[in-house]
Parts: sequence; C-alpha cells; structure tokens
Amino acid sequence: MYDLTYRPRRLRTSPEMRDLVRETTLDTTDLIYPLFIVPGEGIKKEIDTLPGQYHLSVDEAVKVAQEAYDLGIRGVEIFGIPTYKDEQGSSAWDMEQPVQQAIKAIREAVPNLLVIADVCLCQYTSTGHCGMIDHHEILNDETLPLLCKVAVSQAQAGAHMVAPSDMMDGRVGAIREALDEAGFTNVSIMSYAAKYASAYYGPFRGAVNSAPQFGDRKSYQMDPANRLEAMREIELDIAEGTDIIMIKPALCYLDIVREARDRYELPLAVYNVSGEYAMVKTAAAAGLIDEQRLVMETMLSMKRAGAKIIITYHALDVARWLKQ
Ligand code: PBG
Ligand code: ZN
Repeated sequence: MYDLTYRPRRLRTSPEMRDLVRETTLDTTDLIYPLFIVPGEGIKKEIDTLPGQYHLSVDEAVKVAQEAYDLGIRGVEIFGIPTYKDEQGSSAWDMEQPVQQAIKAIREAVPNLLVIADVCLCQYTSTGHCGMIDHHEILNDETLPLLCKVAVSQAQAGAHMVAPSDMMDGRVGAIREALDEAGFTNVSIMSYAAKYASAYYGPFRGAVNSAPQFGDRKSYQMDPANRLEAMREIELDIAEGTDIIMIKPALCYLDIVREARDRYELPLAVYNVSGEYAMVKTAAAAGLIDEQRLVMETMLSMKRAGAKIIITYHALDVARWLKQ
C-alpha cells in the first residue's frame, strides 16, 4: 500500500457519490431552441444543411413550440425566410411576414413560452449583408434605424425578447431607445455581444439563404484572433443597455465565455451554432461517435465555461435525454 494522503478516486466510487460532488449541472431551463419559419401552410421540411432541423410554416412552428414547452424548454428563437428581399431588407419589419406571424401565433398558442426574435437584415437584403450598403460598403449609422424598425415590429408581434445579431456599432442603445419610445420597456434585449466572423455559420446560411452576395462579414463580425476586443464589445453592449450577453459561436470560444463570466454580472448565453451541430450530426450518422454522450458532454462544457443559457439545435433531444 502506498501512503497517499489524497485519493481523488474516493469521490468517484459510485454514481451516488459522483452525483453528490458534481460541480456543474444541465437543465432544460437552460435551453433555447431556434426555429426557422417559412411562408405557407402545413410545411415541415427537413433542412438539407441541418439534418434533424426543419423549415416550418407558422402552423407547424406552433406545434413544435408547444412540444418544446412541454419538454421544459423555456424559450424559442425565431428566424425567418421572407417572401421578398430588397436593398433595405424591408421584409424584416413587415408584420405580414413569417417571423412576425409566427411570433403572434406562438404567443397565442403557447402563452408562457418565451419568444425571442433574431434581429438582423441578412435574410432580408438582396445583398445578403447585415446592413445597408453603399458601393459595397456596409453603412453603420444608416443601418441602425432599420434594425430599430425590425425590433419594434417583433415587439409589436409579441416578442418577449429581441436578439440583435448584426454587429453594427451602437445598435443595442438604438434598439433600447426605440423599444422604450414605442412603449415596450419590458421587452428585453439579448445581444450577440461577441460575435465572431466564423466558418461555423455555413449550414445556417444555407438554411436561410443569407450568404453575402459579395465580400464577407469581416468588417462587422469579430476577428477570431481577438480576446480583449470581445471584452470591449461586451462592455459596450452593457453600457448601451443589453439585458443578456451572448457569445457566438460557442465551442471554439469557451475561453471568452469563461472570461466574460468572471468579469461581468449579466446573464450569459452561448450560441451553439449550425456548424457545431452539423459536425456532430455528420459524425453520428457515420457511426463514429455516441451522439447522446457527445452532445451531453458538449452541453456541460458550455455550462462549465460559465454560460447559463444555451441556444442549440440539439435542444429537443437534450430535453428528452434529460427526462430519461
Ligand atoms: C444572422 C445570424 C447568423 C446566425 C445567427 N444569426 C448568421 C450570420 O451571421 O452569418 C448564425 C447561426 C448559426 O450558424 O447557427 N446575422
Ligand atoms: Zn445578419
């Protein structure tokens, strides 16, 4: 026998012991489930680039929202595919479009489910960019009033929360002011505070047909090399009045999550993005990994890094597994 003072394995001797000393937990109340709304009726069509996720018409989206709520999930985030695109992205604030209609319908059918609306223009502009364009330049200040219109239209439709993902400077402050002026002082903001220019968004852009028609998003989304800049971006969003800060993507940026958790007091969210999801689904379909174990380990890693809220395409599966 060796004379060891500490034997860490003592605390791993049984499931009960491991339960007792577990530092991090995952709950269905941590999850937000993204929904992709398309025009039409009776549509539930699997998305080519996101196996297991669906393009949903409003009526079908209501059913999925109900299912999510019944599983214990607290919120859905709404993305839309509009019936038309133009230079300004005006279908983004059109009350007759899928996003606004879905918000309304879900609020009526599942009143306690939190409805969060993504605020951006890239699905709605003919250029595929997140802002107004002049001679291939993305204009910051000219874009802000448009984003305000989007947020206010979503609040009018009944959204509890808006989530600006555009990365224009000053948008959180502008949206807060516009919401307040329109009487929506209780509509909260979850800003994509540190959003990196990432290759991990590929499957999402395929799903919503929002790839930029020229250039890339590097003049507004962040350089993946930068850590301190993320802290600055978060600070600015807090100063402008965001209620929840989000970091996106999640897995390559867990260092940023940990640092943000240590520095700031606001609720912290991560977006476990489309490319992260697609890699798991592809590896699972090839029989290379145990999907359930791998996904649960991944969820836990985001919680351990410091996130409370996880926006993930795995949400329904995770909620089912947590109930087992
Ligand atoms: C729109 C937006 C994107 C995502 C969320 N909102 C794509 C982008 O910025 O190109 C990415 C979501 C994902 O990849 O799952 N601005
Ligand atoms: Zn965008």
